[in-house]
Amino acid sequence: MDVYDIVLKRRSVRRFKQKSIPMDTLKKLVNAARVAPSAANLQPLKYIIVKKKELVKEVFTTLKWAAYIAPKGNPPEGQRPVAYIVVLVDTKIGKKGYEIDVGTAVENIVLVAWNEGIGSCLIGSIDKQRLRNLLHIPGHLKIALVIALGLPDEYPVMEEMTDTIKYWRDESGVHHVPKRRLEDILYVDGF
Ligand SMILES: Cc1cc2nc3c(=O)[nH]c(=O)nc-3n(C[C@H](O)[C@H](O)[C@H](O)COP(=O)(O)O)c2cc1C
Repeated sequence: MDVYDIVLKRRSVRRFKQKSIPMDTLKKLVNAARVAPSAANLQPLKYIIVKKKELVKEVFTTLKWAAYIAPKGNPPEGQRPVAYIVVLVDTKIGKKGYEIDVGTAVENIVLVAWNEGIGSCLIGSIDKQRLRNLLHIPGHLKIALVIALGLPDEYPVMEEMTDTIKYWRDESGVHHVPKRRLEDILYVDGF
């Protein structure tokens, strides 16, 4: 698929098929993150792949889903993520200015994942202390984001934004995501 098509078609997925993702594919996703643009080329990010069933179950309990429509956005049992990538910032390498590095890295992951047929959802709403304890993450590694992964069991649709930025789920369970119109955000040769 063309990169532009992937960018347009990718949506956050919160319902997953219960088929495992091979370790090689998960490593490929982290490898895509590894080569992302990095401010001053510091590359302060580290990653934990979580794949073991019992741990995957535990990590789920540290995450919050789709706040605008809670609890309707929570993946129900039987449709939960099958793996996670936890994105960490090594503060021994970079203490500030890493936020955009996190953005470039995770976008590489979600786009390559989509191209592999894997759905994802970035999760920033995390019980960080519990996740730290669960995965034995040392203090100098800051938890930036968790990426939930699995084969999609839903296909959310993009809508042109009219009056609200809040996504919604309709009566048949389809997730709709409003996006601002190009003409509302784009200026040429000055504001
Ligand atoms: C930094 C960041 C944090 C996010 N945190 C959460 C989260 O905690 N829980 C969740 O369900 N979705 C989370 N999302 C996903 C957004 O809700 C989603 O990207 C947005 O609704 C747009 O939908 P789309 O990704 O399908 O285009 C997060 C996205 C970003 C970029």
